[in-house]
Amino acid sequence: MLIAAVSFPQVVLAIHILAVVIGFGSVFAFPILFAAAARTDPGVTPWLLRARQRLGRYLVNPGLLVVIIAGVYLASKLHQWGNFYVGWGVLASIVLGALEGSYIVRPAGRLATLAERDLAATAVPAGGQRTSATWSPEYTAGVRRFVLVGNVMALIVLLTVFFMAVQLGS
Ligand code: HEM
Repeated sequence: MLIAAVSFPQVVLAIHILAVVIGFGSVFAFPILFAAAARTDPGVTPWLLRARQRLGRYLVNPGLLVVIIAGVYLASKLHQWGNFYVGWGVLASIVLGALEGSYIVRPAGRLATLAERDLAATAVPAGGQRTSATWSPEYTAGVRRFVLVGNVMALIVLLTVFFMAVQLGS
């Protein structure tokens, strides 16, 4: 009875929202982990960067694909193509995919290798844990761009969810 009251477009809407939550959650979680690592244990930085690369490949990009497929179905089924929020969603999806691929996934591996090199050149204090590192200008510039792009992506996701939720322009 309860199940019969749920329509297929409602299920697709739930999938669309779930894909946003699962796919883009790491875009918000990663900066917190990365900042904590830089402050307390820089030795884990290469691992974290490679982990972010895997998240991009196995969560962010596939999640975006599901968001787009479900979004296109909803816009067609609900006759929403003429509305601003749908056009924005299409544009946001293209920009998010391009930023993730070109400025996050690809550079993350290169930055991890640079971080390993810089860490190897920094002496570990006697008795243990590394609490600071001397980063090269090359790594610092790369990380700055990496963090900036991550923040821009988070802002685009926030704006898009807001525009979708209020169905801006409909
Ligand atoms: C090809 C791109 C996209 C299209 C065509 C699209 C289209 C749609 C449509 C038609 C709805 C249903 C609105 C309704 O209930 O009548 C919707 C809902 C929603 N979309 Fe998208 N969307 C796209 C991308 C995105 C992206 C990139 C995000 C987030 C980053 C997003 C987040 C949401 C959310 C959170 C809702 C639920 C709003 C609510 O029911 O309150 N969408 N989308």
